[in-house]
Amino acid sequence: MTQFQESAGLDPKKISVLGASGSVGDSAIDIVSGSPQKYQIEALTAYRNVEKLAKAAIKTGARFAVVADEACYQDLKEALSGSGIEVGAGSSAVEEAASRSVDIVVGAIVGAAGIRPTMVALEAGNQVALANKEALVCAGDLVMAAAARLGKPILPVDSEHSAVFQVYERDNRSEIDEIILTASGGPFRTWEKDAIAGATVEQAMKHPNFSMGSKITIDSASMMNKGLELIEAHHLYGLAADRLTVVVHPQQIIHGLVCYSDGSMLAQLGAPDMRIPVAHCLAWPERAPAKTDRISLTEIAQFTFELPDYDKFPCLQLAKDALKAGGSLPNIMNAANEIAVAAFLKKRVSFGGIARVVEQTMEAFVQKGENSSAAGIEDVLSLDKSAREVAERLLQDGL
Ligand SMILES: NC(=O)c1ccc[n+]([C@@H]2O[C@H](COP(=O)([O-])OP(=O)(O)OC[C@H]3O[C@@H](n4cnc5c(N)ncnc54)[C@H](OP(=O)(O)O)[C@@H]3O)[C@@H](O)[C@H]2O)c1
Repeated sequence: MTQFQESAGLDPKKISVLGASGSVGDSAIDIVSGSPQKYQIEALTAYRNVEKLAKAAIKTGARFAVVADEACYQDLKEALSGSGIEVGAGSSAVEEAASRSVDIVVGAIVGAAGIRPTMVALEAGNQVALANKEALVCAGDLVMAAAARLGKPILPVDSEHSAVFQVYERDNRSEIDEIILTASGGPFRTWEKDAIAGATVEQAMKHPNFSMGSKITIDSASMMNKGLELIEAHHLYGLAADRLTVVVHPQQIIHGLVCYSDGSMLAQLGAPDMRIPVAHCLAWPERAPAKTDRISLTEIAQFTFELPDYDKFPCLQLAKDALKAGGSLPNIMNAANEIAVAAFLKKRVSFGGIARVVEQTMEAFVQKGENSSAAGIEDVLSLDKSAREVAERLLQDGL
């Protein structure tokens, strides 16, 4: 909203946040509540974290609060009694939250659970600011087609894709040679391969720059997160695998670059603070002040870059392979990874076992020839379920 619009008394932008109790959800609530004259919350959702959801709903004056787990309905009702906030539970209520007419739906659910709500939001005519990279990894063609039908771009919340979005010259897209996504390298960047394979949950949870949800933190340690982001970038920007590059940049100040045919490389820089890409999405196509972290280039003094080590981080290689193979292999890979990461967090499998579960699940589907493209969202979800079952069996068999 411009100053003119504000002074003219135009309505604030209506925002819904799916996954409001998570780490990206926190960033979205922070940006929204910092500018109540600009943003107004319509709906907030969580899975089971009633306390955090209720607190955020009251703080932001949300109209509708939803827990995905129906067993939490009564608790949420009690937590919000007397507030006037409408309460819902279950997947249909999450879909209602996604479909209520707003200016932007922030998709911040973790994992494949975010696929259907993302599609529902787009099909209801809502612009989506997407953090839930798994929705693009598993159903990228369908999500991008729905956004194209809507005529509104997906606004990337992932910091690397937000960086690219900010320096991507739409009128010169045919002159783009390469997109570079930077990576912190995670907590094991300087470790030996054998030590990484035996890393503990506590060691893997220590991300060098960001405090995030547990699934993405483990994905960052295995570098699967960067692999998921390559697939996400492929869908958002339409570039083939050989023109998408990962560069390790431990300071994580440069988040992404677009390289043009005349030799120019355009980059976006900023503090590693997820409120920055969230603020960019919510204000887009304008910019608006936001209370976010700032950096001093002279204090940082040095930027360093190195190539990722695919041997030490096999999950990154698996994601590149899945991207090159296409079809449903990224979906299968994602499902296996979600199962393997959950098992690692419960100490059912070693850190090195995550890549083995993913690789063997992918191989099982390739061998059966069950990796062709999905025709619709139901096919995506049904393959997700089958891949989870295969991954779970591999875990039970001790791999
Ligand atoms: N965190 C970051 O800095 C960051 C950066 C870039 C991209 N992302 C991406 O953003 C997404 C969210 O990440 P996060 O770190 O914010 O995750 P998180 O902290 O674990 O939060 C996940 C959110 O999703 C909800 N949720 C979990 N399972 C659900 C289900 N089955 N149905 C409906 N809702 C469910 C959670 O509710 P409960 O709290 O009730 O469980 C929570 O609100 C991920 O796709 C991640 O890759 C995150």
